[in-house]
Amino acid sequence: MYTPNNIYNGDSIELIKNISKSSIDLILSDIPYGIGVDDWDVLHANTNNAYLGTSPAQEKAGAIFKKRGKPLNGWSEADRLIPKQYYEWVQTWVSEWFRIVKPGANIFVFAGRRLAPRCICAFEDAGFTYKDMIAWDKERAAHRAQRISIIFERRRDMYSALKWNGWKVGNLRPVFEPILWFCKPYKIGGTIADNVLEHSLGAFNETILKKYGQEPDNIFHMPSLQSDSGLHPTQKPLKLMELLIELTTIENQTILDPFCGSGTALLAALRLNRKYIGIEKEETYYNITLNRINEEKINADNMLAFA
Ligand SMILES: C[S@@+](CC[C@H](N)C(=O)[O-])C[C@H]1O[C@@H](n2cnc3c(N)ncnc32)[C@H](O)[C@@H]1O
Repeated sequence: MYTPNNIYNGDSIELIKNISKSSIDLILSDIPYGIGVDDWDVLHANTNNAYLGTSPAQEKAGAIFKKRGKPLNGWSEADRLIPKQYYEWVQTWVSEWFRIVKPGANIFVFAGRRLAPRCICAFEDAGFTYKDMIAWDKERAAHRAQRISIIFERRRDMYSALKWNGWKVGNLRPVFEPILWFCKPYKIGGTIADNVLEHSLGAFNETILKKYGQEPDNIFHMPSLQSDSGLHPTQKPLKLMELLIELTTIENQTILDPFCGSGTALLAALRLNRKYIGIEKEETYYNITLNRINEEKINADNMLAFA
């Protein structure tokens, strides 16, 4: 059985079976969103290559289209199956998550806006209570929307170009990301207060929000610092992970991240005197996590030596 304060390299869908029943106090995980082109994020079977990659935009994007196609426009049956296949992927592990967390435990899942609804359904179907969706306001995000008038100009249709001036296709600037908040129901016939006494789980620490400059609102404003980038393409701010941990756990409780990437959630746990377990499939990111954790331990030892 897996023990706290360890990181494991492998497929968490399998490895999580090595974690004891009702042993975890918080799962904090930035799971694959299922919308990217990195191999670890492709969770559907769609290999469409819309227009065979020959539109100007697709030519420009090159390898990405050749690799995975452009599966977002809903042109084919395979496009439409993506959300369902994401739901089925979540189902392959969510019951294990239910097994290993304690009654009243909280779960924070970073999920993409597009497929988050399927994630919520899979969690509810596995027995979790869906508590809330926190909006993480990133403050900055790339805006990808194309002026439709440009297309009409290229067609030399100046009448339509003028008529549709100011209109765009695509999305609004995606400045927030959802953090889905679930909890495991506590004992039938018990109360939440009893659960807090028995497991130290079930409530949240509102006073801690001040430390992070946040109101007790379900929108967290947290920009990524320079130190929050460069280790993983979807690296999350360390302070945001610390906030979520302090909001819902006390010292010495155990935090799990089964999709840990560069280990941001685990580093946050270590810094806050919580125990941690991490699982990461890609060896490169697993090694990055190990290095971050080891560096933090060395720094802490040095601080003690100088104190
Ligand atoms: C969204 S990223 C996490 C990034 C992380 N929050 C950080 O700050 O670095 C998700 C990670 O899950 C890993 N992953 C995907 N499927 C996995 C699986 N079945 N088992 C373990 N890790 C997996 C990917 O390799 C990727 O590094």
